[in-house]
Amino acid sequence: MRSFFAAFFLFVTFGLHAQKISLYDLSTDHRTNPIGIGHQAPRLSWKIRGEGRDIMQQAYQIRVSTRADFSKTSLVWESGKINSAESILQPYKGKALGSATRYYWQVKVWDNKNRESAWSPVAFWEMGLLSPDDWKASWIEPVHDTLQKIPAPMLRKEFNTKKKIASVRLYVTSHGFYEVSINGKKAGDEVLTPGWTAYQKRLQYQVYDVTNLIQQGPNAIGAMLGDGWYRGQLGWTINWGVWGKQLGLLCQLQITYADATMEIVGTDNSWKFTNDGPIVMNSIYDGETYDARKEIAGWDKPGFDDSKWKAVNAATYPLDVIVATETVPVQRIQELKPVRIFRTPKGTLVADLGQNMVGWVRLRVRGNAGARVVIKHAEVLDKFGEFYTANLRDADATMTYILKGGNAEEVYEPRFTFFGFRYVSVEGFPGELKPENVIGVVVHSNMTPSGTFECSNLLVNQLQRNIVWGQKGNFVDVPTDCPQRDERLGWTGDAQAFCRTAAFNMNVAPFFVKWLKDLSADQYPDGRVPFVIPDVIRQNSGTSAGWGDVATIAPWTMYQVFGDKKFLEDQYSSMKAYVDYIHKKAGESYIWKGGSVFGDWLYYKPQMESHTEPDGYTNPDMIATMFYAYSSKLLSRTARELGKIEDEAKYEAIFKKVKEVFNQEYVSPSGRIASDSQTAYVLALMFDLLPDGLRPKATQHLVNDIKGRRNHLSTGFLGTPYLCHVLSENGQTSVAFDLLLQESYPSWLFPVKMGATTIWERWDGQRPDSTFQDVGMNSFNHYAYGAIGDWMYRVVAGIEIGAPGYRIIRIQPKPDARLQYAKASYESMYGKISSGWEAKDGAMTVNVMIPANTQAVVILPGADISKVNMNGVRLTTGPVKTFSNQGENAYIEVGSGEYNFTYPVTVPAPSN
Ligand code: BGC
Repeated sequence: MRSFFAAFFLFVTFGLHAQKISLYDLSTDHRTNPIGIGHQAPRLSWKIRGEGRDIMQQAYQIRVSTRADFSKTSLVWESGKINSAESILQPYKGKALGSATRYYWQVKVWDNKNRESAWSPVAFWEMGLLSPDDWKASWIEPVHDTLQKIPAPMLRKEFNTKKKIASVRLYVTSHGFYEVSINGKKAGDEVLTPGWTAYQKRLQYQVYDVTNLIQQGPNAIGAMLGDGWYRGQLGWTINWGVWGKQLGLLCQLQITYADATMEIVGTDNSWKFTNDGPIVMNSIYDGETYDARKEIAGWDKPGFDDSKWKAVNAATYPLDVIVATETVPVQRIQELKPVRIFRTPKGTLVADLGQNMVGWVRLRVRGNAGARVVIKHAEVLDKFGEFYTANLRDADATMTYILKGGNAEEVYEPRFTFFGFRYVSVEGFPGELKPENVIGVVVHSNMTPSGTFECSNLLVNQLQRNIVWGQKGNFVDVPTDCPQRDERLGWTGDAQAFCRTAAFNMNVAPFFVKWLKDLSADQYPDGRVPFVIPDVIRQNSGTSAGWGDVATIAPWTMYQVFGDKKFLEDQYSSMKAYVDYIHKKAGESYIWKGGSVFGDWLYYKPQMESHTEPDGYTNPDMIATMFYAYSSKLLSRTARELGKIEDEAKYEAIFKKVKEVFNQEYVSPSGRIASDSQTAYVLALMFDLLPDGLRPKATQHLVNDIKGRRNHLSTGFLGTPYLCHVLSENGQTSVAFDLLLQESYPSWLFPVKMGATTIWERWDGQRPDSTFQDVGMNSFNHYAYGAIGDWMYRVVAGIEIGAPGYRIIRIQPKPDARLQYAKASYESMYGKISSGWEAKDGAMTVNVMIPANTQAVVILPGADISKVNMNGVRLTTGPVKTFSNQGENAYIEVGSGEYNFTYPVTVPAPSN
């Protein structure tokens, strides 16, 4: 008997060990192994995987240590076993964290099947400089012209290290762009540093592990400074030096020796500089001119004779505005080789990268000293096949390279500019231009890709690719409207329209953590939100409805997607200030008059004045009032999440009042809304502004308008993001598909059919006859209309949030007979979610993947639960939690795992 029990015990133990759970993808404050954390409570997240279904965490334990071996004396936090299901964003609660110190951490978990994981792989974070006093260096400034577009100054300093080195960190920031090199090698692989912020209030610094660049003995550190956003031209008028006209550098090397002593080498007045380097001109809009004949050999290596260089000035600026970098760095992400090199009819030599991209080309050239290669950038060719740059407006967007000569190949990439282009024209290239001479270097914030979408319509797949490329090109430390013309600004309206889609395609959490802080910093004291963030326009005119609302929409969206309440906590006062501002403007009328400057930007207008078709105009005051209501609602919900009961009630009451007034002022008893435009119906329905009884009527007016336009949309930046959602939520999914699949202008697929590889600013950037829209405003890389992407993920493929952070997932695909299949995946905070459907031979297959520690409800469209097979077997309880028929669909509740459902459907597949 005893041996039976022993055997049984062994079997159970063995069985448990065989069915393991493990942990992966550890992150700290939404980043992997970040260096330079600036606060005392980094938040730790992990993902769980394991065999079997329905895995839920029941407890976790974290340990944090200053050593990777977690030896007892090095531990700074041992959480003990905590009974909790929380696996994301758990704050560090150990001993006070020290400046410039690295902390290693691990976690283990217990699940609902009594299994215990092993300790996870080791992750780490490293603290930055926690207090202004930690900056031992002082700001230094090279003396330079106070004109625009000065040559990039070069600064240098030599120093000696006498002992064996254990590790070295470089902490650095600047006024203007910097590139630091040590002993002839660039520190780190970030570009366009220190990034773009509201500089006088928040200036990011970066931290680099440069241990490998420093040697025992003589060393040299050098830096080049570019005009950048700080002092360069921004905006359309003569607007430069927005934050200052003087370039400057602040950096310190912290050298830790093997004997644990430390030494700091920082910027001070012993540094020297020259203004006579090879970068003779640099400007974000205009490009860069590099005269390789002016290169200074050995300038950033020890032993260089700098006796002719001049002494820098030491300068004083407040150190408390210097902030740790919380976002992901801008880096070179990928390379594109030209797909074609050709001459235009007029003879211009052009290389086609095959993709509208953002970054620059790497030039490889061999030739005589003084030969000048001039590279210009264009997004499109005109209808005659000529290189077209008129839409860049006043941006020269030119890179000029002057050869130093000799036999060696010369390789050059610009440092302090970027371009938006698909085509480059190349002038003065010695010899025959080959693809490898002009490789496209794609540059953007290094956000981890998180989503995929695919379906049976190839044009829609190209649309998805265009959306992703629009995101790449316009997420360069700040979400910009466009990357090519003399603009490239953080337009708030565009960002609010696109942020939900962006969050599907890539992990944008760190990106928005940073940018929303810039927003708070630049918000006016009375609550208005500037048109662009960072605020370079500074007209003191501020908010426009649908633009300023990024203050409420973006934090709310980020909270929903990432389950991170800190977005709400950090932004709460900004959200509130914005809504209070509108409230004050509207006063007792509850109508926000004059609040919309831009209206439903770029809504459809007929091509010819004689055209009988109405345009898509929507009354701006009505738009403003609708956003007033919506932002009040979001603020009320935010207050609820944060436990601010009074505010919750206050802003809910405001919402209700605005809704009431809106109906009196703008809505007829038949559900017709003033302006009678698609956007009017879309916003009213989306923002819950109609009494229930009027919703079907308003929906019908919307549908009638779409049908009256032969299945075309007429919406601008504000209506477009919600158009298909409103239709699919109100029983009109097939009309939404009519719009998605529409190939003629105005539509999402029209640009695709015209060969677009990014999203266009206008529905008709290039008209059906191949002529261009107004040169004054015609970008071919503007992400706003790409906001259809989130409908494709959420409705076509069916990945929807059930509870913030996808802790509860709704899988709710809405198929349409015009597609044979659609599938999407999304890497959530808990792990990968996927949903895909295929309709074939009267049967529907739905494949679903749900990550551990989440729950899902799967809504099978058009399914009768009694006919559903799961993984080939008729569905019964056991593997799923509940299942039932609700209306025309089957509802199934499941835990984590992979599921394959099949069931018969009548053709065509239902879509509502
Ligand atoms: C920008 C937009 C922006 C708009 C506001 C344009 O110049 O490119 O995308 O939202 O101005 O009016």
